[in-house]
Amino acid sequence: MAQEELFHPPKDLVENSNIKAFMDKHGIADLDALLEKAQDHDWYWGEQARELEWFKPWDKVLDDSKAPFFKWFTGGKFNIVHNCLDRHMKTDVKDKIAYIYESEPGEVERWTYEQLHKEVNKFANALKKLGVKKGDRVTLFMPMIPQNPVAMLACAKIGAVHSVVFSGFSAGSLRDRLLDADSKVLITADGAYRRGKVVPLKHNADAAMAEAPCCKHCIVFKRAGNEVPMTEGRDVWWHDLVEGASDECEPEPMDSEDMLYMLYTSGTTGKPKGIVHVHGGYAVGTYSTLKFVFDLKPDDVYWCAADIGWVTGHSYIVYAPLMNGATSILYEGAPNWPEPDRLWQIIAREKATILYTSPTAIRMFMRFGEDYPKKHDLSSLRLLGSVGEPINPEAWRWYRENIGGGKLQIMDTWWQTETGNFMISPLPITPLKAGSATRPLPGIKADVVTQDGQPAKPGENGLGVLLKPWPAMLRTIYGDPDRYVQTYWSRFPGKYLMGDSVMKDSDGYFWFRGRVDEVLNVAGHRLGTAEVESALVAHRDVAEAAVIGVPHPVKGDVPKAYVTLKVGVEKTDALKDELKKWVGDQIGKIAQPDSIEFRDKLPKTRSGKIMRRLLKAEALGQDVGDTSTLEE
Ligand code: PRX
Repeated sequence: MAQEELFHPPKDLVENSNIKAFMDKHGIADLDALLEKAQDHDWYWGEQARELEWFKPWDKVLDDSKAPFFKWFTGGKFNIVHNCLDRHMKTDVKDKIAYIYESEPGEVERWTYEQLHKEVNKFANALKKLGVKKGDRVTLFMPMIPQNPVAMLACAKIGAVHSVVFSGFSAGSLRDRLLDADSKVLITADGAYRRGKVVPLKHNADAAMAEAPCCKHCIVFKRAGNEVPMTEGRDVWWHDLVEGASDECEPEPMDSEDMLYMLYTSGTTGKPKGIVHVHGGYAVGTYSTLKFVFDLKPDDVYWCAADIGWVTGHSYIVYAPLMNGATSILYEGAPNWPEPDRLWQIIAREKATILYTSPTAIRMFMRFGEDYPKKHDLSSLRLLGSVGEPINPEAWRWYRENIGGGKLQIMDTWWQTETGNFMISPLPITPLKAGSATRPLPGIKADVVTQDGQPAKPGENGLGVLLKPWPAMLRTIYGDPDRYVQTYWSRFPGKYLMGDSVMKDSDGYFWFRGRVDEVLNVAGHRLGTAEVESALVAHRDVAEAAVIGVPHPVKGDVPKAYVTLKVGVEKTDALKDELKKWVGDQIGKIAQPDSIEFRDKLPKTRSGKIMRRLLKAEALGQDVGDTSTLEE
């Protein structure tokens, strides 16, 4: 790894950047001085918050009296949707394009801010008609279509809490999330296009709702035109519900700390965690980090090529770009459909200026080769971004060379569902190192510690921690505040545990190595090994299962399963295939083990815990290390 090679930002990028303008305004000379000054959180976050519109200003920037249950901008009255839409109706942004939407089959729609505002208002009024009130949970299970942000924004506008479930999840996963959130309403579509096929969303939604009696209503958007059964009294078509609804709707004045949404993510147990975000601080954090890191300017055409079902889509396709009045691209389908140059085609046609994607996507494009991007004029691009997993220097260089014309800076943003916004990331003024997320952003304080909590030495691998709260941080785990304290704040009191292995070099640059807990990162998606194990043991033939992550050239990690079968069950390849499919049906395709091995026994400690570490060492051909706790 050539860790010492620095990629300096070009002068015009630095001189014209939003962050430089902010520094000039406050007489700050350089990045070090900025990072230092921004540790004054009242000042830094207060400055950012003042750029948004508040119904009533806050009394206090940070209330840490009940740490780690931190509160931000207390006493303030605010609604994030007012800042995404309503306030723009008084400016030129009203007529600007909010979303350039392209469906997988190729239709293009251009939604202005005014149009989006009206559609959100209509749908918000429709939700009210169904009896949805402030604080109610509404689950979304939708394709990547403009109605997905419309539904999220409509919920938030009236103070309802959305819980978006990635549309690739199975009926069982959806059911668990409906039940955990105690959702009253489910919003879905008849189907979604993926690689030319229709994914039967409503079909999965029906199976989930059959076992989730809390869910009283289902709103169905007609997207794919596939035949779907509608249950009388429960299901209603989106178009019927909004028919005649007014296109005016005042935003609900929320307390800064009122819940905006919950989003499930994988942890170390079989039960996903509902991460809770709130209106005020989340708005301030996402708005300001996007403005500074991707340097949004009024004429940018910005493309965050993530899925709205994950936090990247929530923060950086929906809320932050809209608060910034940006024009974004929204694409429904697979990036390599029908050909591996779909993204490049769209960038060239729309003259996109910013592309933000994942290392998995970049490695996939690398495999397809340079000829695909070469066929298209990508010269409109001015900044690139990466998120979701460590980017290996080889992929970093390929991205800069082949997509960035050999000269574009790459914003490698490290953050999590829990953090809400970018935390450790370059700014346009930061010199880059290939494969490093560089340094903490202004207002963020991070470090690397050893197993016993002491600061790690430069160059030493350790555990990543955050030393200060930040406005967009998670507030709790839905319905489980103890788990919140336990997971993030108990290992090293006063420090937030990231769950990542990290090295900080002698320049203070952070190098992320991957997760340290039982969480895999499969193609940028978090997956708990325990979730896969519980799906496997739910199969009639399986006695025990252990799942580990093994490296994969494109996807980062892939799950590998070790399974012991019940007595008398034959070990066949057909059963392996059946088990893979079973896991896909139980959780979703992303969780399917890449390979399965049958074993007569799994290695266990004397107290009966499966030692996954040994299986992993064996799979990777490494030394198995200390085996003194092994039972036999
Ligand atoms: O391991 C880190 C990895 O993704 C985890 C968070 O996953 P999730 O909550 O699904 O959010 C993903 C999108 C923000 C982290 O604990 N990760 C995320 N970004 C990076 C990263 N690892 C290395 N470099 C990154 N830029």
